[in-house]
Amino acid sequence: MNSLFTQTHVGPYAISHRVVMAPLTRMRTNAHNVPGDLMVDYYAQRASSGGLLISDATSVSPLGFAYVGAPGLYTEAQAFGWRRVTDAVHAKGGRIFLQLWHAGRQAHPANIGGEMPVAPSAVRAYEHSAIHGQNGQVIEVEQVLPRALAIEEIPGVIEEFRHAAALAKQAGFDGVELHAANGYLPDQFLQDGSNHRTDAYGGSLENRARFLFEVLDAIGSVWPASQIAVRLSPGSSYGTMSDSDPHATFSYVARRLNGYGLAYLHVVEPRVRGNDDIDAAASAISAKDLRRVFKGTIIAAGGFTAESAHRIIEAGDADLVAFGRLFISNPDLPERLHVGAPLAHYDRSTFYGGDSRGYTDYAFHRTAAVT
Ligand SMILES: Cc1cc2nc3c(=O)[nH]c(=O)nc-3n(C[C@H](O)[C@H](O)[C@H](O)COP(=O)(O)O)c2cc1C
Repeated sequence: MNSLFTQTHVGPYAISHRVVMAPLTRMRTNAHNVPGDLMVDYYAQRASSGGLLISDATSVSPLGFAYVGAPGLYTEAQAFGWRRVTDAVHAKGGRIFLQLWHAGRQAHPANIGGEMPVAPSAVRAYEHSAIHGQNGQVIEVEQVLPRALAIEEIPGVIEEFRHAAALAKQAGFDGVELHAANGYLPDQFLQDGSNHRTDAYGGSLENRARFLFEVLDAIGSVWPASQIAVRLSPGSSYGTMSDSDPHATFSYVARRLNGYGLAYLHVVEPRVRGNDDIDAAASAISAKDLRRVFKGTIIAAGGFTAESAHRIIEAGDADLVAFGRLFISNPDLPERLHVGAPLAHYDRSTFYGGDSRGYTDYAFHRTAAVT
């Protein structure tokens, strides 16, 4: 499995192994969507010398929350909370990128002060948001019909991404990853199943991609391109996403991204839908397809084992591999993969919300071995 444990670079950073922690929404912030001690411990546990972590999806806007307890990054208090996380990761010699997120139509009124969620078009998604129930417990509820953003409102949303990116710098992140996957706002603009606009942000491929590239340009006014990344899930229907020609749409985006000099392009494989394994159609678009178009660093994610991660790197279809569910239950995943130690199983019931159980209480291999 040696290809996972060779050196590489992500933007300006020397990276000592290729086992990346995928972005994972765990819904464990303190009040006001501020990361607290529990999150500091969780990220510190998963940091490794020269290893790369990607943060929980972090809302750039008070209107961006699909899930109660998810982190934000639009206030000074949130930046301060995140600073403690990045300090803890850096103390272990690790690197961490912030995932910039706006849920768009997947947001829920209960999480955004009773407002209507915003989207490119008034087309709803049939997924679930997580909100607080009457007794304060987390419950899942159906998403609602969003309202279409007026064209005059779009620059304000783009400014929210820029502002969060600036706060990410203040919070000590090593870079930012734009969440343009899993049916959230930039993805909603991009794919024609959710974008029915007839103005400059809808219709042609160029128009549908406009929001994503304008957001990137705004982030680029704060960060060098080599510290900016983009996540796409081209073969996924999560978020009720669909496109009449995904190969054309995502190849177009990947081709244009070549001009940016990004830190990396992060591609979710079609065999995963959100957080679940599915049987993907053979024609579904994958990292391998985008590799033919995109010339920079690629991180592939979705259903990887140590062996398949090794294979995709050997084949040259990705440069690094991000692990999600296995990183939840194995805080020392890079080391376990390196030494071939057994992997602990994850408990789905503690994925979202709650306390340290299923969050910071998974054993380390070395500790587990002596107890
Ligand atoms: C609990 C959980 C939360 C997730 N949250 C996010 C997220 O915040 N942002 C994101 O892009 N993907 C998110 N995902 C998807 C993962 O990043 C990853 O793509 C997916 O789990 C497939 O990788 P795996 O098979 O290694 O778990 C989440 C997945 C899980 C299991």
